[in-house]
Order: sequence, then structure tokens, then C-alpha cells
Amino acid sequence: METGVLDNPTNHICFEADASIKSILYTKEELDSAVANLGKKISNDYKGKELIVVCVLKGSVIFFSDLIRNISCDCKIDFIGASSYGCETQSSGIIRMYKDLDLDIKDKHVLIVEDILDTAKTMDYLIHMLKGKKPAGLKICTLLDKKARREVDVSADYKCFDVANEFVVGYGLDFNEEYRNLPYIGILKEEKYN
Ligand code: IMP
Repeated sequence: METGVLDNPTNHICFEADASIKSILYTKEELDSAVANLGKKISNDYKGKELIVVCVLKGSVIFFSDLIRNISCDCKIDFIGASSYGCETQSSGIIRMYKDLDLDIKDKHVLIVEDILDTAKTMDYLIHMLKGKKPAGLKICTLLDKKARREVDVSADYKCFDVANEFVVGYGLDFNEEYRNLPYIGILKEEKYN
């Protein structure tokens, strides 16, 4: 048997980080299917419009790259760098923007793609910042929605899943910059951050 490959029917790679996961919330197959469905919906809604899909670095990069390959209408892509977490599982509430857009979004339809809406302070900040650039429209797409922790009135126009108030990692989401490479979303064992 090839080293590192589980002897199971789905032939998933065995990750070192698997040992840090309490339980798997969404498998790769569930994520693939949800992202494909969302891509179809977005494609229908934006057909014939000038669409710019914006990836919020770094957490949404995997979701974003899968999502845009399921968007069949013409679109451009761009990246914005913003974060509200240092190395803790609680938001500091202070948003650090470290990369602005490269494209001009004036009069274009912008879809912001985020990994998770938690307090939504990051998204609130991005909405205000991007609205100042006068886009024709601005909508929010998130992979996960952790509604129980919302602190500002922001809701997603498109989303894959609601999640409970637990710290999740994988499929781009990290703790202290680790676990982003896991192909599934799992709940991190509390001993890893307590
Ligand atoms: P918000 O500003 O509180 O909504 O925070 C959003 C950001 O916090 C996300 O883009 C994530 O980077 C991070 N975050 C919130 N909850 C989690 C989680 O459960 N796992 C990993 N990152 C999270």
C-alpha cells in the first residue's frame, strides 16, 4: 500500500493533522456537492452581468478556488487581505487589512467570498470599504455561517452551511495558520487551543 494512504473505500490521504480533529463536520464529498450547487445558483443570478468575485485571504482560498470553477458565467477574480484573528479562537474585533483589490470595481457586480461569518465584524468592515469604491452591486457569499456569535447585522446572500458555536478547521480554515490543508471541515479538539 502507498505510504500515507488509508486502506479505505474512499482512498483518502491520511493527514498528520487528523489526530487533532474531534469529529468531521463536512466531508470532502459534502463540500464538493454544496459548492457545485452554490456555483450553479450564482451562475444563474449573474448571467449577463459584469461580475468580479473577491476572495478574502487566506481562509476562503480553497472554497474560492473550487467555487469559481463552478461558476459558468463570465467573471473576473481578485483578492483582498483582511483578518481579525491573531492566534486566538476569539475575534479581537480589530480588523487588519493587508491587501487591497487590484481591479477597479466601480459599476461592477462584486461578490465577496468569505470562509466563515462569525461576529461578522470583518465582513462589515469590508462591505463599508468596498461600497466606497461604488460597485454596481455587492453581495456576500460564505462557506460557513456561525450565527450564534453574530455581533453586527450582516447576513449572507449565498452560503453552504450553518455551523454551531464550535471552532472548526480545514478546507482553508486555520487555527494559528495550521490545518488549512485538510480536505474536510472538522471540529478542532479543545486541548489544541485551551
Ligand atoms: P468575524 O469578523 O468574527 O466574522 O471573523 C471572521 C474570521 O474569523 C474568518 O474569516 C475566520 O478567519 C475566523 N474564524 C471565525 N470562526 C472560525 C472558526 O471556527 N475556525 C477558523 N477560523 C474562524
